[in-house]
Amino acid sequence: MDSTTKPSQTIIVIFGAAGDLAWRKLLPAIYNLYLDNWLPENFLVLGLDIKTMSLPEFQLHVHDGINKFSRSGKTKKKDWQTFENCLLYKKADFKAASTYSFIDKQIKQTEKLWNGTSNRIFYMAVSPSFIETIVTSIGNAGLAADKMCSRIVAEKPFGQDLNSARHLNKILCTTFDESQIYRIDHFLGKETVQNILAFRFANALFEPIWNRNYIDHVQITVAEQLGVENRGGYFDHAGALRDMIQNHLLQLLCLISMEPPVSFDADEIRNRKTDVLHAIRDIEQHDVHKYAIRGQYNDGWIEGKKVKAYRDEPGVNKDSNTETFAAMKLYVDNWRWQGVPFYVRSGKRMNEARSYITIHFKPVPHKSFPSEATGNWQPNTITMNIQPRMTISLNFQAKRPGLQMLLNPVNMLFDYDESYKTGTPEAYETLLLDVMQGDTTLFMRADQVEAAWDIIMPVLSAWQEDIPLNFPNYPAGMQGPEGSDIF
Ligand code: BG6
Repeated sequence: MDSTTKPSQTIIVIFGAAGDLAWRKLLPAIYNLYLDNWLPENFLVLGLDIKTMSLPEFQLHVHDGINKFSRSGKTKKKDWQTFENCLLYKKADFKAASTYSFIDKQIKQTEKLWNGTSNRIFYMAVSPSFIETIVTSIGNAGLAADKMCSRIVAEKPFGQDLNSARHLNKILCTTFDESQIYRIDHFLGKETVQNILAFRFANALFEPIWNRNYIDHVQITVAEQLGVENRGGYFDHAGALRDMIQNHLLQLLCLISMEPPVSFDADEIRNRKTDVLHAIRDIEQHDVHKYAIRGQYNDGWIEGKKVKAYRDEPGVNKDSNTETFAAMKLYVDNWRWQGVPFYVRSGKRMNEARSYITIHFKPVPHKSFPSEATGNWQPNTITMNIQPRMTISLNFQAKRPGLQMLLNPVNMLFDYDESYKTGTPEAYETLLLDVMQGDTTLFMRADQVEAAWDIIMPVLSAWQEDIPLNFPNYPAGMQGPEGSDIF
């Protein structure tokens, strides 16, 4: 990861530039890169969308998104005036060849003005149904011919299952080399997630105990209080297993359990992560109930507010059997992790909004202290809070002050907010800069995506065949369905 050089001149073509992702995430992230002086002098965003908008309307729309969602707050007039000149907009039909000849013309004109070739980044912030058309058309128009400079970014969902993911990979690889393809999993751009590698491999302290001899089990939880918001239509065809476990949670599991990389080379890191995915024990379809559990939220209360049942959300089928909560118990069958269960869990409308990983260590082999001293005894844990708090804490036993020898669990805490006063970049800032710099480390390679689908396919098939008669089975604002915390 090259964290010091500015990228060379760049044109980002955003398909779906008037959509929600571009409005909330991509353009505010680009704006923050600009504020932090990471953008090259010559820089252009070419926004394309089906929506009719003039350039001033598009600029106003982007301005509004930045003011609402940027981590650096509202724009300052002088900054904005320079930035808005980097924006272009064109109403476009993604199926029409004329769209791609327009892009070609625009790129050529801009490069002439800039006096040289630029990075061309094609960002697909569109529904998956457009991907095939866009990729093929980019290929046909010769826009991806320069393998060094042209790159494509694919958002999730990356397929609906193993076969569709393979198909998408085939389409992408017909036009682009793997080195030009950036499959986004935005969790990998989060500061605290990147820090897992630093924590594990920049310290000599943890590695000797990071294995089956000392670790009892690992819990990886991404709990959200939000429901499906305005994405009911998408989510009802996806479900929590596809939406969260297949990508974000399995990636976290990889970072926690991968072997030390020899270097920070993109493929070295990705190889080590793929090794983990390949080592995850297969689940037989008839055994799925032993390894996976699902749930769907009913109405309930979140932070004192009444919220709807999933089946009453806009865009959701009234009899939907889609899971809004999914949890799995996984084993990594290799030397380091044999017998250590990894519990991954994710749900919407839960009691808290918190993403965290807890490493539970084995108890001490012998308790030398008298039983009255150890009433509160807990095995050690390391907890990495990914969001909203960004902390790492180590829980251990200490003597409680006083004349008696009484033990108490205490916490040693590293807190980002207390240790660093500088702002933390958003995941999309990190990832977009990586794309501009041509660094694929934090992106999913084709084989990783397919290996991750392979792991969850038996669960998807079993859940599809076996209708959940008890849905909805957890009230909004609770920890998920009964039994989900103990299996
Ligand atoms: C997305 C999922 O990938 O991640 C959403 O599609 C989910 O359903 C979101 O809410 C969570 O991301 P974050 O960054 O808000 O924790």
